[in-house]
Amino acid sequence: MARSHSDVLVVGGGIIGLGVAWRAAQRGLAVALVDPVPGGGAAQVAAGMLAPVTELQYGEEPLLRLGMASNERYAAFAAELTEVTGLDTGYRRTGTLAVALDADDREELRELHAFQARLGLDSQWLTGRECRRLEPMLAPGVRGGLLVTGDHQVDGRRLARALVVACERAGVVLHRESAVELLVEDGRAAGVRTDGGAELAAGRTVLAAGCRSHLLPGLPEGVLPPVRPVKGQVLRLRIPEAYRPFLSRNVRAVVRGQHIYLVPRADGELVIGATSEEQGFDTTVTAGGVYELLRDAHELVPGLTELPLVETGAGLRPGSPDNAPLLGPTRLPGLVAATGHYRNGVLLTPVTADLLGEHLATGSVPELAAPFSPDRFHAKALAC
Ligand code: GLY
Repeated sequence: MARSHSDVLVVGGGIIGLGVAWRAAQRGLAVALVDPVPGGGAAQVAAGMLAPVTELQYGEEPLLRLGMASNERYAAFAAELTEVTGLDTGYRRTGTLAVALDADDREELRELHAFQARLGLDSQWLTGRECRRLEPMLAPGVRGGLLVTGDHQVDGRRLARALVVACERAGVVLHRESAVELLVEDGRAAGVRTDGGAELAAGRTVLAAGCRSHLLPGLPEGVLPPVRPVKGQVLRLRIPEAYRPFLSRNVRAVVRGQHIYLVPRADGELVIGATSEEQGFDTTVTAGGVYELLRDAHELVPGLTELPLVETGAGLRPGSPDNAPLLGPTRLPGLVAATGHYRNGVLLTPVTADLLGEHLATGSVPELAAPFSPDRFHAKALAC
């Protein structure tokens, strides 16, 4: 049986796993990654909004701090990726406009604005007319909005491609196979066995398999990450040259209680997202999902029904019980988690890569990662 050995083995080649592998290799560690399709995963579907301020939820201040830290790192992270790979990540400093379509939405947005102000976040209240001056394609009925100039965007597909190349250039060994069993030796995680029959031994094993992180056979009960798939359907439209810019920034709203967002890319793609469905591992694109997205997006920007619809897709967010990621060492020595990023996988890639890279190189848990210990769920379970 083939057996290889590395300092670090990352299980899962989505953008989180790739980012961690890249940073760990840059710290001088011998790194391998196992995934049948490195660069695949939820980032292939995600709209790529980097929106810690406009996606702020009450009670999620620690997650906000992590998101802000990642957002601040994004420009340098994207520039470094481009420098080492020659590939563009589609990072754009567009800002985001969150608008209200009726009086109830406006009240909700005003409360969000007050909450943002209490936290010292940069967010500006605009009247409906001011919103339409910024984005003339908005529906005439828009009642007001929040301009957040610091919430930007990146193209998840380009980002994933660049991270694969960056990993290869940094010497990460990519095993294009599936991990089928965690190896545990003398009470320590010791790598994985693959579907090809290889044993990939490692000093540390990083679990970064998104919403499938809990499914790796061999994981002891006490360290199973409580992740679950949360389906998001997304549409891709094309903005013909003659219609551009169409939208100049990310635009979002809450319509009938559902979040809808429009992300215009520099290359003319317009991404519309996203449903949020608890449907297990189903990634079917449904007529109802497409209908609801188009109906709500049309209320926001009526002119978009003229645009060609070029792609529909569904991805699976790795949800966690508190909507925050699991970062750092687990109770099983040698096993480290980087999973459960839920709605924020694209946003949190740079900070996750940095924090896990630091942990893998030094053994310490950076302060910013401490609130996201994978143990927090297991500790609660014991206390009950
Ligand atoms: N962050 C957007 C979403 O998960 O839909």
